[in-house]
Amino acid sequence: MKKKVGILTGGGDCPGLNPAIRAVIRVLTKHDYDVIGFKGGWKGPIENQTISIDFANIDKLLIEGGTCLRSSRTNPYKTDGGVEAIKKTFLDQNLHALVAIGGEDTMGVAHRLFTEENLPIVGIPKTIDNDLDATDMTLGFQTAVQIATEAMDRLKTTAESHDRVMVVEIMGRHAGWLTAYSGLAGGADVVITPEFPMDLDEICKYIQSTQSRGKNYALIAIAEGATILHNGKEVTSQSEKPVDSFGHVQLGGIGDVLKSLLKEKTGRDVRATNLGHIQRGGTPTAMDRVLSTSLGLECAKNIMNKNWGSMSAFKDGKIQTVTLADGVGRLKILTEEFYDRCKAFFG
Ligand code: F6P
Repeated sequence: MKKKVGILTGGGDCPGLNPAIRAVIRVLTKHDYDVIGFKGGWKGPIENQTISIDFANIDKLLIEGGTCLRSSRTNPYKTDGGVEAIKKTFLDQNLHALVAIGGEDTMGVAHRLFTEENLPIVGIPKTIDNDLDATDMTLGFQTAVQIATEAMDRLKTTAESHDRVMVVEIMGRHAGWLTAYSGLAGGADVVITPEFPMDLDEICKYIQSTQSRGKNYALIAIAEGATILHNGKEVTSQSEKPVDSFGHVQLGGIGDVLKSLLKEKTGRDVRATNLGHIQRGGTPTAMDRVLSTSLGLECAKNIMNKNWGSMSAFKDGKIQTVTLADGVGRLKILTEEFYDRCKAFFG
């Protein structure tokens, strides 16, 4: 009898999820396994809701953004009877293993279910935030960098044509990777991330510095979770926003706040664009497909080796396996070393 493996995607969607799902299915079904999809993140195994994947069309998943399994931010540890329900689904479905593809929250649940309930779970790290530890790059990150960079290229032409200061707000939650990478690639004059709060006067100084050297416009990349210091106070976008079942506050709006402050302080024509969920949409880049496929393959090998509690990772330039515990131990925030590279181009 074939061994049955479940797969789910949790948290925010991103390009690369579908290629990873495809890779796991293609590899495992060549061996002695059947793969079933659980629908909508952890909600799927809680409610024993599955979703069918058509093998005849499986290669189309390589080019499709989002997730064919749907996703949610359901937290079994905040759902009445959630963990017991997942254990029951394991028995009812006669599951040999479960693959969880997700970020910090999804991997955190996977890790707890493995350590506390002894369930055979393996993980694949995804998130445009790139904030999971023990992997240099998560799937979805490279495509989001590409999208944000292209957006900045487009905003630059308007900025130049109208002598404007353009503020671009970029996702990433409490990590500045996405903003720093796209800021460097898109030629931002200032990059502001949660790890390195910046004073309004300093931002103005950089704008002034480029202007004095003949550049009529400025591009400012600001992360949604960033803090601006102004008149001795910390300005963020986070007050009184809804919180999800993992306790994360919904971010967004700091770009508009900065726009108003800069207008007032500099008198320049300032506009703000919030890239929002555009950064999570569309087809994955070739490099993200390669990463997702490679992580999916590594995950399939972990299942065949019964390497439970493991996470596929891209680390030190190669695909390897780490533990879920390594992945969720701490949040991987932007390093000073990378930020300094961006800083060299401020002003
Ligand atoms: O974690 C990925 C992410 O896109 C963050 O960058 C962002 O803060 C959050 O998800 C947005 O979540 P939602 O899609 O629930 O609004």
